[in-house]
Amino acid sequence: MSVAVAVRQNLERSSWIRKMFEEGRRLKQQFGETKVFDFSLGNPDLEPPAEFLQALAAAAASAELGTHAYMPNAGYQFARVAMAEKIAAEHALAMTADDVILTVGAAGALNVVLKTIMDPGDEVIVIRPYFAEYAFYIANHGGCMKPVDAGDGFLPDMATIAAALSAKTAAVILNTPNNPSGRVYPRSVIEDLAAVLLKAGRETGRQPVLIVDEPYRDIVYDGLVAPPILDAYPESIVVSSFSKTLSIPGERIGYIGVNPAIGDKRLLLDCMVMANRILGYVNAPALMQRAVAASWRARADIDRYRRRRDMLTGVLDASGLSYAKPEGAFYLFCQVPPAKHSHDAADSSDVAFAMHLKTFNVLGVPGTGFGCPGWLRFSYCVPETVIEASKPAFIEALRHW
Ligand SMILES: Cc1ncc(COP(=O)(O)O)c(C=O)c1O
Repeated sequence: MSVAVAVRQNLERSSWIRKMFEEGRRLKQQFGETKVFDFSLGNPDLEPPAEFLQALAAAAASAELGTHAYMPNAGYQFARVAMAEKIAAEHALAMTADDVILTVGAAGALNVVLKTIMDPGDEVIVIRPYFAEYAFYIANHGGCMKPVDAGDGFLPDMATIAAALSAKTAAVILNTPNNPSGRVYPRSVIEDLAAVLLKAGRETGRQPVLIVDEPYRDIVYDGLVAPPILDAYPESIVVSSFSKTLSIPGERIGYIGVNPAIGDKRLLLDCMVMANRILGYVNAPALMQRAVAASWRARADIDRYRRRRDMLTGVLDASGLSYAKPEGAFYLFCQVPPAKHSHDAADSSDVAFAMHLKTFNVLGVPGTGFGCPGWLRFSYCVPETVIEASKPAFIEALRHW
C-alpha cells in the first residue's frame, strides 16, 4: 500500500489541536474526567437553540417526494434566498440568491473558493496567528500560503500586507472574529485593507480576492458588533457556517456569498458550483439546508461564552498569566511567560509550556500551530465547572514554571 508523500507529510505536521485533544482523552482515562482541564478543542458544547431543533424536526418529518433527492449543486433556492438576506444585512449590500452557494461548512466553502480562484503556485496571504487548517486547504489546490505578522493587538498590519502582495497573490484570507486571538477587526482596519488591496491591484494588474472567513461573526461580547466587510471591497467573498452560532459543527452546513460587484461574477459562481460538485460535496446536506433556512436568525446562548471568558480571565489573572482579552469567538490567546528555572530559550517555548501545563492536567494548544510561537491558545467551549476547577492547577503550574 502506498500513501502519497504530500499526504503523509500533512499527517506528520497535523495539528497540535488534535495532538492535545488526544492527550486530553488519555489523561481523562488515567485521572478521571473531573481531574483534567482540557481547553484544547474549539468544539461548541452548548445546546443548539430551540428554533433550530424545531425546524430540524419539522424538516425531518416531511414525507414529500423528492425531499431526499439530489438537487442543484448550489443548494435549494429557498435556502439561497435566506442566506442572501442574512449576508446582505451583515455586509451592508444588496445580494440575491444567485450570489450564494450552500456548502459543507465553512471548511467546505474555503476549499471551493480556493480551488476556483488559484492556479498552481499562486499565493494566499494569511495573517498570524491564523487558523491552522488554512495551510492544508491552500495546499489542497496547489497554492502556497504566505503568512504575515499581525501588528499591535493582533490587528492586520497594512505595511506587512502591502509588502507581501504581488502579481502571484490570488487572495488574502481575513478571519474575524479571530481564531485564535479573539480579536474583532474594527471597520477602520477593513477600510485600510481595502485601500491597500486596491492599490496593489492597480500596481500589479491583478486584483486579489479578499476571502472573509467569519464563522464566529455572532459570537462577540460587551456590546460589540462585527462590522460589515464586503461593502468595503468589490473583489470579496464571504465564507461562513452555522457550526458555532447554532452550535451544530457536526452537521456541516455553511455557505459562500459572493460580492455582486466582483469581476467575472457569473463565471466565478458557475465555476464554484462546479467545484462544489467535483470536490465530492455535490451539494450541502439537504436536511440541514431546510433547518437553517428556517432558523438562521436564532443563536446559541452566546452570553454563556462571555461568562466563561470572564471566568477564564479570572483564573489566568490569579495565576499571573498575560493574555489578549477576547472580544469575540471562544478562544483566549495567552503569552508564554519566561521559565523561571532555566535560561535556555527552548525551555520557555510555547511547546515546552504546553507540555509543562500538561503535567498539571491543563491542556492548551501551542501558538506554533497558528504560526505564532510564544503564545498558547485556550478554548473555553468547556463547562463552567471545568474552568472553576482548573484554578489551583494553573496556579501550581505557574509556581513551578
Ligand atoms: C477560523 C475558522 N474557519 C473555518 C472553520 C471551519 O468551520 P466549519 O465547521 O464551518 O467547517 C473553523 C472551525 O473551527 C474556524 O475556526
